[in-house]
Amino acid sequence: MTLPTGPITIREVGTRDGIQSLGAFIDTTRKVELLEALADTGLRRIEATSFVDPRAVPQMADAAEVMARVRRRAGVSYEALVPNVRGAQDALAASVDAVLVVVTASEAFNQKNVRMSVDASLTQFAEVKLLADERRVVCIGAIGTAFGCPYEGDIPESRLFALVERFLELGFSELMLADTTGMANPLQIERTMCHVLERWGDRVAFGLHLHNTRGMGLANVVAGLRAGVTTFDASVAGIGGCPFAPQAAGNISTEDTVHMLQEMGVDTEIDLDRLIRVARLAQEILGHELPGQVMKAGPRWKLHAV
Ligand code: COA
Ligand code: ZN
Repeated sequence: MTLPTGPITIREVGTRDGIQSLGAFIDTTRKVELLEALADTGLRRIEATSFVDPRAVPQMADAAEVMARVRRRAGVSYEALVPNVRGAQDALAASVDAVLVVVTASEAFNQKNVRMSVDASLTQFAEVKLLADERRVVCIGAIGTAFGCPYEGDIPESRLFALVERFLELGFSELMLADTTGMANPLQIERTMCHVLERWGDRVAFGLHLHNTRGMGLANVVAGLRAGVTTFDASVAGIGGCPFAPQAAGNISTEDTVHMLQEMGVDTEIDLDRLIRVARLAQEILGHELPGQVMKAGPRWKLHAV
């Protein structure tokens, strides 16, 4: 079997997707501490926060303050999710390096998530893209529930592909396809991503955003690699879940993903030992056990005394 020999890009999303649905507000100081520790591991892209209505997602109410306070490491891209033009304006004012706009392939999920139709979201994104281009800020598209929706069930590939086309029409050249609630299986990921890369791979950089809700997360990473995907979102310690997705616990864990890739000879340019320490820091900050496994078992090459 051939896999890309790397380097693979991991986009850390722990301080956004990871913590956004936590009930207890995490102090801005501790969010900043976590972000700074993550940037010291070799990660090159971090989705630091989101600029959304704080009434919808109270945990992200300090987005501007987080961006103002975090010590930015050279070479690291600090990115933010935005749902609409207002969010993009705030994110650009906070000098983010990239904005990521999200729509879902499911009409029902988009309504639930951002109280808009898919068309209304895309209308917002046309303007967001112009604003970002003016400021020379990277603008990334994301398509949630790309592989299944907890409200609508299966998402036909044709519906996903039509959305990809619409992002292309708006001038996007980077797209993340998200398995928002962990419904994708590895064969589906490999098949869909092969089709997607075959059709648009020369024009668009595609990445995968995977959740481990049903234990298929890392298998889906391998499936994505087999299709030729080289960018993956992951969340330190496997924190995560969308506030508008029932039981959407657990993004794939960054350190488990990096560990698996290293074991398969795929380079990520990330310092795994440091990353494991950050996963334990995340656990300390959140104050409860988190799903990441390698931070508990240790890397497989660490042998025990007989
Ligand atoms: N950031 C902060 N405030 C915002 C905002 C943003 N990005 N977008 C709108 N608002 C404010 C408006 O100014 C308005 O404030 P007011 O009542 O004081 O005048 C209020 O929110 C309502 O604006 P409206 O455009 O009608 O929004 P809405 O109530 O229909 O909600 C969203 C739409 C998109 C703003 C909201 O659902 C949201 O932020 N969702 C985020 C969901 C999310 O983060 N999901 C997980 C990640 S995929
Ligand atoms: Zn997610």
